Amino acid sequence: MNVQQAYNSWAATYDAVLNKTRDIEALAIRSVVPPGAFAEAIEIGCGTGKNTEWLASRAAHVTAVDFSVEMLSKAKAKLALPNVDFQQADITNAWAFASTPANLITCSLMLEHIENLDFVFQQASEALAVGGLFYVGELHPFKQYQGSKARFDTAHGVRELECYVHHISDYTESARHHGLRCVAVQEWFDDGDRATTPRVVSFLFQKP
Ligand SMILES: C[S@@+](CC[C@H](N)C(=O)[O-])C[C@H]1O[C@@H](n2cnc3c(N)ncnc32)[C@H](O)[C@@H]1O
Repeated sequence: MNVQQAYNSWAATYDAVLNKTRDIEALAIRSVVPPGAFAEAIEIGCGTGKNTEWLASRAAHVTAVDFSVEMLSKAKAKLALPNVDFQQADITNAWAFASTPANLITCSLMLEHIENLDFVFQQASEALAVGGLFYVGELHPFKQYQGSKARFDTAHGVRELECYVHHISDYTESARHHGLRCVAVQEWFDDGDRATTPRVVSFLFQKP
């Protein structure tokens, strides 16, 4: 089962089951993206729309992209918002959905499935307007070193998804390579307990 098929299966339960990483990342994005209104936002890997409604309250127009038809259909069923345009696309191909320069691009819990980070940063850099922001919130690599990865329960047992480890410097160097400035790096812990391994890492990059 490839990643796309896995998310088509996971869509039915993704919102309902306990998922600390999903919930902590939701807090991270709301804290890291600075206040203010954005004209055009692009959300890559929008999934079932966990962050889409919030983004739609911050941006005049949101392009929300995912390659899983079932995840998208959950998002669409929940969110009938006039300023959100859901699109099915694989973000490892050229970003044809980025037709208007974006003031904000967000990516939550998706890059662990992407082998070639550099391509994503290249496309994001090209899609951003000058001054535009690129938010990334991902499972922290420290958790990945300990064996954590995207997984879900099925009738036939736990299904693990194909994942790639990206070190902190992989993100920052890829951004730098494509002309994006790192504005903030933050780490997010279970119950805010900084004595534990951080669960989520967030980055805010800017196109100067
Ligand atoms: C863990 S879910 C995260 C969903 C949502 N951003 C959230 O935080 O709840 C990862 C999402 O990325 C999508 N995804 C993974 N690889 C993708 C790709 N190459 N192109 C588009 N979407 C992709 C999956 O279909 C899935 O909906």
